Amino acid sequence: MAIVTIPDEDRTLNDREAITQYLSSIGIDYEQWDSSRTVANDAPAEEILAAYSDEINKLKAQGGYVAADVIDINPNTPGLEVMLAKFNREHWHDEDEVRFIIRGRGIFHIHPPERPVVAIEVEAGDLIRVPRGTWHWFNLCESRDIRAIRLFQDRAGWTPNYTESGVDGSYQPVCFGGSYLPVECVIS
Ligand SMILES: [Fe+2]
Repeated sequence: MAIVTIPDEDRTLNDREAITQYLSSIGIDYEQWDSSRTVANDAPAEEILAAYSDEINKLKAQGGYVAADVIDINPNTPGLEVMLAKFNREHWHDEDEVRFIIRGRGIFHIHPPERPVVAIEVEAGDLIRVPRGTWHWFNLCESRDIRAIRLFQDRAGWTPNYTESGVDGSYQPVCFGGSYLPVECVIS
């Protein structure tokens, strides 16, 4: 399950109901899907998509998503630093950012208007939908490993528009969950 922190209020939410409600209040959809499928988390992308086809089709119908794929990032991914540096600065998209985590961990920071910044540490089984236009940024945890299903309304629209606010520099991308000690993510 996700861990949600509100650093400016020194507050942590680790109860599913509280997390869902708080994120909903800032426009973020959060769900947990049953990730105990027979499919292995390192299975080919087609098998992953087939195993979660019911949920994917439901989301497509709800959000107008036309395509789904599986992104796989690990420490050996070519161009990893460049890729991560695109998303660890505050930005927004013309598209929803929808991710269902298959493996690994990462942190979304959300910067809602007139509300404090929220850090959402996601892990396997977590589904998050960041609506189009939402200011946010993303970091990997120390393992630098994540695999996720992505859904798209229009692939061409999913590019980062940077706010250049500098707010992202005020928040440490610290991961708390899993088997790791709290460590600072080093992304760039
Ligand atoms: Fe993004």
